[in-house]
Amino acid sequence: MDTERLSGKKALITGGAQGMGAAIAKHWAAQGAAVCVADINEEGIAKVAQEIRDAGGQATHFTLDVTDEDQAIAAVAHVVKEFGEINLLLNNAGVNKPTIFPDTPKENYDFIMNVNAWGSFNVMKQVSKQMIAQGARKDYPYKIINVGSILSREAFLDVIPYSMAKHAVLGLIKGGAKALVQHNITVNGYGPGVVATELWKQLDKDLVDIGMFEKQGQSMDSLAENMILMKRYSYPEDVQGTASFLASPESDYMTGQLIMIDGGMVMQ
Ligand SMILES: NC(=O)c1ccc[n+]([C@@H]2O[C@H](COP(=O)([O-])OP(=O)(O)OC[C@H]3O[C@@H](n4cnc5c(N)ncnc54)[C@H](O)[C@@H]3O)[C@@H](O)[C@H]2O)c1
Repeated sequence: MDTERLSGKKALITGGAQGMGAAIAKHWAAQGAAVCVADINEEGIAKVAQEIRDAGGQATHFTLDVTDEDQAIAAVAHVVKEFGEINLLLNNAGVNKPTIFPDTPKENYDFIMNVNAWGSFNVMKQVSKQMIAQGARKDYPYKIINVGSILSREAFLDVIPYSMAKHAVLGLIKGGAKALVQHNITVNGYGPGVVATELWKQLDKDLVDIGMFEKQGQSMDSLAENMILMKRYSYPEDVQGTASFLASPESDYMTGQLIMIDGGMVMQ
């Protein structure tokens, strides 16, 4: 691993307490980035940040609910206080909870849209303001990476609000790229497919509860068999390389793009 690849990067990572956010925080730190691990899960962020420091990396943590404007402002201020500036955002916090349409309660819609769509918008807005205030760099762009999904380009019948919210993330990437290019800020993203994380463990249980599958553990294997070209689901390690590429100078000439990392589920 090139331990200098991300040196000089000062990153805020939302949803960093577990799953892909935690894996990417560690991967970025191992490549020289200073990372702020932010999440509602206070225990998780402290643990991940400590593990990074124990491995010789630079990390801090901050308790953040991405849906709260004041907390987003405070998170950005924390990164600036700790690292002097912010030049990289991984907008990764996300939630899902399946329901069968049209029996989807408004609370389900609100919860999913609020965290995935508004939360991403909210954090990107506050980070952008800080980046603009810092002044555009001539030598490299500040970078914003939003986490979409296969469901930024497809929709499944049992997760319609999530599909809507992840399509909103695609709109955020495209609109953000246009709004921020004048400040030399790029906005890109990636879309995982089926990734073995806590989110999927819960989803697997929920899918049994709503009658989509008969027993737990079936859903991921079934999707792998029937919908994933590579015939296997994925792990955070399958995703972190693309996240690092989008954070690195190798992607400096890219903006407004959403890259799928899904073993061939959705072709663009
Ligand atoms: N797991 C998958 O198969 C999959 C597929 C496509 C996209 N994604 C997306 O990838 C991202 C990471 O998912 P994951 O699978 O690692 O999930 P995960 O559940 O393991 O991690 C998500 C993290 O987000 C945090 N979070 C939830 N609500 C929050 C809030 N309001 N404010 C701050 N943090 C909050 C959680 O505490 C958790 O630590 C999400 O955006 C998810 O939608 C996941």
